[in-house]
Amino acid sequence: MRMYDLIEKKRDGKELTKDEIHFFIDGYTNGDIPDYQVSALLMATFFQDMTEAERAELTASMVASGEQIDLSAISGVKVDKHSTGGVGDTTTLILAPLVASVGVPVAKMSGRGLGHTGGTIDKLEAIPGFHVELSNDEFIDSVNKNKVAVVGQTGNLTPADKKLYSLRDVTATVNSIPLIASSIMSKKIASGADAIVLDVKTGTGAFMKDYHEAKALAEAMVSIGNHVGRDTLAIISDMNQPLGKAIGNALEVKEAIDTLQGNGPSDLTALCLELGSHMTVLAGKADTVEEAKKRLTENLNNGKALERFKTFVESQGGDPRVIDHPELLPQATHKIELPATKSGTVSEIIADDIGTAAMMLGAGRSTKNSEIDLSVGIVLHKKIGDTVNEGEPLVTIHTNDSSIDTIKEKLYASISVSDHAVEAPTLIHSTVR
Ligand code: URA
Ligand code: CA
Repeated sequence: MRMYDLIEKKRDGKELTKDEIHFFIDGYTNGDIPDYQVSALLMATFFQDMTEAERAELTASMVASGEQIDLSAISGVKVDKHSTGGVGDTTTLILAPLVASVGVPVAKMSGRGLGHTGGTIDKLEAIPGFHVELSNDEFIDSVNKNKVAVVGQTGNLTPADKKLYSLRDVTATVNSIPLIASSIMSKKIASGADAIVLDVKTGTGAFMKDYHEAKALAEAMVSIGNHVGRDTLAIISDMNQPLGKAIGNALEVKEAIDTLQGNGPSDLTALCLELGSHMTVLAGKADTVEEAKKRLTENLNNGKALERFKTFVESQGGDPRVIDHPELLPQATHKIELPATKSGTVSEIIADDIGTAAMMLGAGRSTKNSEIDLSVGIVLHKKIGDTVNEGEPLVTIHTNDSSIDTIKEKLYASISVSDHAVEAPTLIHSTVR
């Protein structure tokens, strides 16, 4: 087999066979096929797309390129959740104990934040003592005992994806649905889940700004999952503004605790209930989404979800007193309010720019190796559609540096107040299965 022939075939819009796809992925992973030939194939794929069968084979071959996590020692259907990324997305901290509280086993691997988006692992580390490195046996025991454990990424999962993603980054081939879908799904599948719930974001703060593109990505991922034997479902949700009100690590832990007590922001609560209900049904712990939602809502209100969060925190070495005493979480020295300069209705909160402002405060990493400050971040007091009076605070900035004029300007520039009535954006657009 020659790479040249594969490039020519894809250039001319023909379908690659399973063997050809495995030849290319294996050859690229072990260094036999050079970057320039793979670049050409990626660009041909960008223009010619891939069939559903090709997408599934590409994913399967990327999964096979590295280690795979074996979760078979955990009883029950293991359901994972993945979000395509947003700002202030605190859902995993809430969902993991919430669905565990109705018996869904959650064995989750999460990542750290980069750029304007935060990572679950960083957020968990804001809880004093919490550790995210568990041995494989500890991880499995923890899930069997408490139904929930969250660890940092370990092992050499999907090396083909790592290499391809870096190459796509410098060859203008990131933004291709078959390539994004296979990249995301290969990582989920290699992490061992039996079933997968995807939260595909759309809106100004999302990777897929346009609803139709988000839907095409969701359909592509659901098709791949089902092709490779993992029950997969996607919802398409709004990212026209940050999710919830808190952006920043310790601040989001506090927001998660509030939500688990039934006092969370309405959008964050609704999204967690929606994702959680689908996870519960896929895990076979409820027959219908309605029934699942009812039980999850009960557990937010009767303290069971919060109780599960406490067990989860304790079992990974964290200080459970943070639940009743959030002041034990890292605290910033200054809390600076930004007052509205006019009265009206909030019409825009540019999620990416709020995320970048939080990063500039130190809540996120500008490069992979930057240090982060777990205490800092931003709390929104208003969301799109809320009315505000001149002088009322729009946001509170939690910072350890009092000279933050550029950040204040950035925040003012990213929040618009209109004289006209504005509706809150629709939170959940559709479900793809
Ligand atoms: N996220 C991924 O993991 N892969 C992509 O290709 C794009 C976004
Ligand atoms: Ca949030």
